[in-house]
Amino acid sequence: MTDAPEKTFTLTNDQTGESVKLPIVEGTYGPHCIDIRTLHKATGHFTLDPSFTATGSCKSRITYIDGDEGILLHRGYNIKELAAESSYLETCYLLLYGDLPKEQELKDFEDIITQHTMVHEQIKAVYQGFRRDAHPMAIMCGVVGTMAAFYHDSLDIWDPEQRRISAHRLIAKIPTLAAMAMKYSKGQPYVYPKNDLSFAANFLHMCFSVPAEEYIPTPALVRAMDRILILHADHEQNASTSTVRLAGSSQANPMACIASGITSLWGPSHGGANQAVLEMLDEIGHKDNIPEFLERAKDKSDPFKLMGFGHRVYKNFDPRAAVMKESCDEVLEELGINDPQLELAMELERIALNDPYFIDRKLFPNVDFYSGIILKAMGFPVEMFTVLFAVSRTAGWISQWKEMMEEPTLKIGRPRQLYTGPAERPYVPMSKRK
Ligand code: SDX
Repeated sequence: MTDAPEKTFTLTNDQTGESVKLPIVEGTYGPHCIDIRTLHKATGHFTLDPSFTATGSCKSRITYIDGDEGILLHRGYNIKELAAESSYLETCYLLLYGDLPKEQELKDFEDIITQHTMVHEQIKAVYQGFRRDAHPMAIMCGVVGTMAAFYHDSLDIWDPEQRRISAHRLIAKIPTLAAMAMKYSKGQPYVYPKNDLSFAANFLHMCFSVPAEEYIPTPALVRAMDRILILHADHEQNASTSTVRLAGSSQANPMACIASGITSLWGPSHGGANQAVLEMLDEIGHKDNIPEFLERAKDKSDPFKLMGFGHRVYKNFDPRAAVMKESCDEVLEELGINDPQLELAMELERIALNDPYFIDRKLFPNVDFYSGIILKAMGFPVEMFTVLFAVSRTAGWISQWKEMMEEPTLKIGRPRQLYTGPAERPYVPMSKRK
């Protein structure tokens, strides 16, 4: 059977008439891509796409997002089914290894992660260097990078076994480091992990138990925590994942790469939005003030944005937001909390979704809109919200890093630019500067 003719895209320079044929590459789903790797050699031109609004940085088999339909798949499995049926550790396995684990595979994976949850005792000294009022994300940026100073025996990025050990260590230890950051900021003693607890229950234990009294969450709260972790686990080539991939492309070690992902996630346009949503709701204060704030969100001269709304890819509901809202109702009911901020958030969503500005721009609630209300109800300080996002996203970051490292060739990522600065000019000695 003759091979089907290669699909190509012809680009023509209207000034010179020169044209170049570029291969079209197709995936399982989603827009086809024009492979531009030969463009500069053929035409002497670069492409220009600030903020990468229409640029694919890699091929990946891990996550697919259909922004128009509001669909999110991890290795082909719908996030709504994973949130309802799976567990965070099973989802970690799926992201890392490509398929749902069989029963023994899952048990072995759970055992490995459980047995790696403790951190080197000397890492405590690193925390002592921070002020007590340091933002926990600042601490996480520091201590996760510091992991490279403690786990030298698993930093050879070319050794698949060491990559596997590093992946397990990061997934297992970052929750412990996160809980330590929370305890440090509260002036409470660190709580060691307990191997007889599930991943989510252990995380809640390390965050909320104190020597004087163990915290024993209800099964509903453990389930809600686990579901929140599932919902944040991976999301294609978002800013922090792209940061991890670019850091990894220079052959940096996996601990350093994950630390770079944490720094990028911190921004309020990205993972920092969950904290910003609560701060925004505090600022709005009452539903009577919603119209004023919506006008500010539309005003280009006003930096105020409706936090937790909008998304680069989703031009429909973020499927994670819908599940998060369900969890919100369950947790508040479980805890017997009637949080006025939830009412305010729902009224804000209702009004915004009926406002032409938001409708025309397809701005819908995203994963961060309701998550903060749940986490606040569970007792997390608002500064910990993005830390929890990082705890969960470590699975996605390290899975994407692993996928990149398993490619036949690892090329350093090195974008070019359009230079718009001054033309070359002679140095001006101080005596001649006006
Ligand atoms: C996450 O990429 C991912 O997958 C991220 C994430 C993941 O799981 O990794 O999903 C997690 O980061 C979710 C997003 C959390 N951030 C926020 O909630 C912050 C508020 N949202 C906005 O900052 C914004 O919507 C972004 C950053 C999320 C997306 O910005 P884009 O894609 O660059 O969109 P844009 O700024 O070009 O907006 C298009 C228009 C503009 O108006 P016009 O110039 O067309 O008149 O919509 C407006 C924007 O001003 N707009 C908003 C708005 N978001 C976009 N106006 C008011 N409030 C908003 N929230």
